[in-house]
Amino acid sequence: MSLELQMKSISIKAERDYEITFVEDWKKSFSEIAQSHAKVLIIAPSELVTSFNLESLKSSSVQVIATPSGEAAKSPEYLLEMWETCATLGLTRSDAIVGIGGGSTTDLAGFVAATWLRGITWYAIPTSLAGMVDAAIGGKTGINSAHGKNLIGAFNSPQSVIIDHSFLNSLSARDFNAGMAEVVKAGFIDNPRILELASKAKENIIELIWLSIEVKAKVVAVDFKESKQREILNYGHTLGHAIEKLESYKLRHGEAVAIGLVFAAELSNVTGHLSSEIVSQHRDLLTRFDLPTTYKKGAFPALLELMASDKKSRGAALRFIGISDIGKPVWLENVTTDQISTAYERIAL
Ligand SMILES: NC(=O)c1ccc[n+]([C@@H]2O[C@H](COP(=O)([O-])OP(=O)(O)OC[C@H]3O[C@@H](n4cnc5c(N)ncnc54)[C@H](O)[C@@H]3O)[C@@H](O)[C@H]2O)c1
Repeated sequence: MSLELQMKSISIKAERDYEITFVEDWKKSFSEIAQSHAKVLIIAPSELVTSFNLESLKSSSVQVIATPSGEAAKSPEYLLEMWETCATLGLTRSDAIVGIGGGSTTDLAGFVAATWLRGITWYAIPTSLAGMVDAAIGGKTGINSAHGKNLIGAFNSPQSVIIDHSFLNSLSARDFNAGMAEVVKAGFIDNPRILELASKAKENIIELIWLSIEVKAKVVAVDFKESKQREILNYGHTLGHAIEKLESYKLRHGEAVAIGLVFAAELSNVTGHLSSEIVSQHRDLLTRFDLPTTYKKGAFPALLELMASDKKSRGAALRFIGISDIGKPVWLENVTTDQISTAYERIAL
């Protein structure tokens, strides 16, 4: 299966159609991109500029800008710097931005591309598992605000996404595992096959990436701008985002989502939708990747407040995505504080 997938692609239907292509040599794909634009600006975290020798791609038409690592790049202050760079380089509408890195990088690169000159072409070359299966797919781009995560953003699909799984060879175990939280999420909301393959994740990684992207592609095709169906991708994210903020982004996104997934499963159980066996399956699978599934007992009031300000809550009532079975998402509306508190107690330490 893994070899069959090489060089194949998945089409995404969004504000326009584009391809996610699985390749064996991302540098070859990059040179094709570089040849089709007068100027290209690569945005990548400094550690990856060094480790993947991105400076070697520099030419009279290709520039590289090294960003801070992780969430530090997704700030309004840093965005201002990026706009300065675009101005200094004189990037025009026929030029392009290429984000090479994890989800923070492609989120930032896509948002710079959305806002510079009211939108220029951009490409995503995700290097982390979370980037390949989630962040670079689906056209959501953005940065964080002091008030919360991803509050400033735009729907802005890339021209294409290049997936080269060999990037994962240098990914830390921690980041690989964090990416697996999103893979596991895709399994629970849509495809039991993903959960089977996840037991041997390293061996099955190309197929897992492929299947997880398929889940996202299917959802984005029917609801690009998240009026309803796309919300299922937020399974585990309402509490996850609140934990990320409370931890000042010191936890990986996937680590916070892992806790959020167990909480969302427990809430599905508390509200009478999901069996305890499937809740346990969440815990078993996520702990296999050394992912956290519990959180501080005393943090509940702060988390509740943060969840209430999450952009996914509508009006006064908190709403969550739950599941009623594997592959069967449900919208948990009008959940009471008591129910939330009961579910939280089950994950609290
Ligand atoms: N736009 C979306 O739809 C969407 C979806 C999910 C997550 N996200 C965002 O994505 C981010 C999380 O993504 P992430 O986990 O990739 O985080 P990240 O981009 O911060 O990467 C984590 C770390 O791994 C390093 N790294 C990346 N690729 C590497 C490689 N091949 N080898 C060695 N090190 C490597 C990065 O430099 C960084 O230090 C969050 O900001 C989250 O909000 C966005």
